[in-house]
Amino acid sequence: MALIKQHLIDPEICIRCNTCEDICPEKAITHDSRNYVVQADLCNSCMACISPCPTGSIDNWRSMPRVIAYSIETQLEWDELPPELSAEQLAEQGVSAVELPAPVEAPPAASSALDNASYGAVLPPWSAAHPYTNLYGPKAAEKTIEARVVGNVRVTEAGASAGKDYDTHHIVLDFGGLSFPVLEGQSIGIIPPGVDNQGRAHHARQYSIASPRNGERPGYNNLSLTIKRVLEDHQGQPVRGIGSNYMCDLQIGDKVQVIGPFGSSFLMPNHPRSNIVMICTGTGSAPMRAMTEWRRRLRASGKFEAGKLMLFFGARTQQELPYFGPLQNLPKDFIDINFAFSRTPGQPKRYVQDLLRERAADLAPLLSDADTCFYVCGLKGMEEGVLLAMRDIVHHAGQDWDQVGAALKREGRLHLETY
Ligand code: A2P
Repeated sequence: MALIKQHLIDPEICIRCNTCEDICPEKAITHDSRNYVVQADLCNSCMACISPCPTGSIDNWRSMPRVIAYSIETQLEWDELPPELSAEQLAEQGVSAVELPAPVEAPPAASSALDNASYGAVLPPWSAAHPYTNLYGPKAAEKTIEARVVGNVRVTEAGASAGKDYDTHHIVLDFGGLSFPVLEGQSIGIIPPGVDNQGRAHHARQYSIASPRNGERPGYNNLSLTIKRVLEDHQGQPVRGIGSNYMCDLQIGDKVQVIGPFGSSFLMPNHPRSNIVMICTGTGSAPMRAMTEWRRRLRASGKFEAGKLMLFFGARTQQELPYFGPLQNLPKDFIDINFAFSRTPGQPKRYVQDLLRERAADLAPLLSDADTCFYVCGLKGMEEGVLLAMRDIVHHAGQDWDQVGAALKREGRLHLETY
């Protein structure tokens, strides 16, 4: 009797962001309005979907006789994952005790040594505030919450680059009298209206919140998002991103359907004298803006003894860097800002990891300081470059990266969110 390790998605944790379905090279993942599911005869355990999943709901495996593997129809009905089959149930299927595999562990991820799975924390910093999650969504009593658009402005000076639109918007959503508590670093999902090319409702698009916990406008029940209009895919082929174009074209007064909030580890430390090092590209700046603005408000209140803030921000050019103007206006003794521009005519190409190496003398002590948290958000490609730079900085300071890297993960001090 052939046994397989059947790959399953935990419906209780999955936030339906579609990342796995997008990324699966075998087209083994599909969904309906309730669940994301894996087709057993198509999945070849290539693991491409494992590390990009923001929740870990993707990383579930069951020993199953191939002939009774859970069908996608069965999985679509689940509210929770079934337990492993017992020895008796397997025996009924003709699986003898000697054939039983060892307790199932996920196959090791097919990823590089320096990646999110190895170093990215799954716990928040110890002093993070308590986040509320999944208040609205497929598993909540309320499926969506309606928000009203109260702002939509472009936040890049440039609207066009190399002949293509480069359009990044700051969009403010207001929840009126409804409760929607969020923290810096959390995200929300937006459900675009209409159906996809298979006639199914669009899945939710996930966006990081760009405003602090007490609102884009302090004391108002609103939040902001930073959204880049997607007009080409990762290979440079023209596509029109459903979610981003819907969002960037919204008018004041329009209503949007929201789910969330999501995220319980990419959260900022709240204790006095804690330091924050932020590393981002493009719209990965959204959570950094939220954290910076919260710290700015705390500082203005005069009631919080803040630590250091460092920002490493990469963009093609100054004109394409979201919030360039407002960032310039922040006091130098409040935040240490470092820009990396990769396509400034006449200038060498620079990435955020180049800046990290240049600031090694300042970063080395912070990397092994229990009061310093690191946040990385933006292009997937940046993740390995940033981790390599961190490793080299630690080595050159005469320290052991394995120890420092393990502490960063264990203590919830290094958070990686790349796409
Ligand atoms: P590049 O000019 O090489 O594309 P985008 O505008 O596409 O969102 O990208 C934001 C910035 O991130 C750009 O400056 C881009 O440079 C840069 N970038 C691209 N790949 C990497 C990488 N592997 N590591 C760091 N930065 C990168």
